[in-house]
Amino acid sequence: TTPTAPKHFLTLLDLDASEAERLIARASELKQRRQRGEDSRPFAGYSLAMVFEKSSTRTRVSFEAGMAQLGGSAIFLSPRDTQLGRGEPIEDSARVLSRMVDAVMIRTFEHETVTRFAAHSRVPVINGLTDRFHPCQLLADMQTYREHRGAIRGRRVAFIGDGNNMCHSYINAARVFGFELRIACPQGFEPDAEILASAPDQCSLTHDPAVAVEQADLVVTDVWASMGQESEETERQARFAAFSVTPALMAQARADALFMHCLPAHRGEEVSAEVIDGPQSVVWDEAENRLHAQKALLELLLDPPSSDGSRR
Ligand code: CP
Ligand code: NVA
Repeated sequence: TTPTAPKHFLTLLDLDASEAERLIARASELKQRRQRGEDSRPFAGYSLAMVFEKSSTRTRVSFEAGMAQLGGSAIFLSPRDTQLGRGEPIEDSARVLSRMVDAVMIRTFEHETVTRFAAHSRVPVINGLTDRFHPCQLLADMQTYREHRGAIRGRRVAFIGDGNNMCHSYINAARVFGFELRIACPQGFEPDAEILASAPDQCSLTHDPAVAVEQADLVVTDVWASMGQESEETERQARFAAFSVTPALMAQARADALFMHCLPAHRGEEVSAEVIDGPQSVVWDEAENRLHAQKALLELLLDPPSSDGSRR
């Protein structure tokens, strides 16, 4: 018999609106349970392989700690020490790894590497960031907004800066979670036109940060040069200079607006220290929620065994 296709999480659009809402509510529940010391271990004997083509602090630690807290384990793999770095095809790596572990998290440059991996995997594959999308971060961001302000549906979000992987995932989130997204980026650094066009009712684009933040409930930014763009750093600093989230820009959003940044951040570039370290910033909750949101994601994808301990 052909095994049924596993459920993957390659972009936010792999979740429907009700799954996504339930997931972030569950994430907050898992957070409270952990705070009360009530962690359960449904993943005893489970393992997660984590393939990283790029650096990571939050993604690696949140998945590794999350698997441990659920009773399972995580295996960190980098191309430096695996056959992937010596040219073993991604399809073969997917076939092999997915016969040994219960799920795979993968962070790559090209998004297509993740989709090719998923196409040949027997187990759920989670996108831990590609050049195109960063869906796990959006689960944490949406959980964080909900915890501080309630439902994001119908609210206005401003994304200031590069039309990058975070911007693309915000466009997807606007569709799934039903908020208005105003994107402000410099000329030539717009998000992918096709992705933007997928959410015409929710998203708009401007080159003026002040227009984007007007009446915003949430202001978001990200680095000006993403991983892989290190050689463009100097040029980007000049091109993005007017797109810094400063106290003056925050003052043009709603008085109770929150500030988010997926981190790592560069104070004095995309965000002022007064903003990221100030009272409107929720970046540390946002980072912590990577842990809880991804535990909820793992539950959803892996469908842990019933209380009698039987496997899927
Ligand atoms: N925000 C985020 O994904 O951080 P890392 O690159 O440290 O994983
Ligand atoms: N846009 C950034 C996000 C880092 C978490 C990058 O891709 O480097």
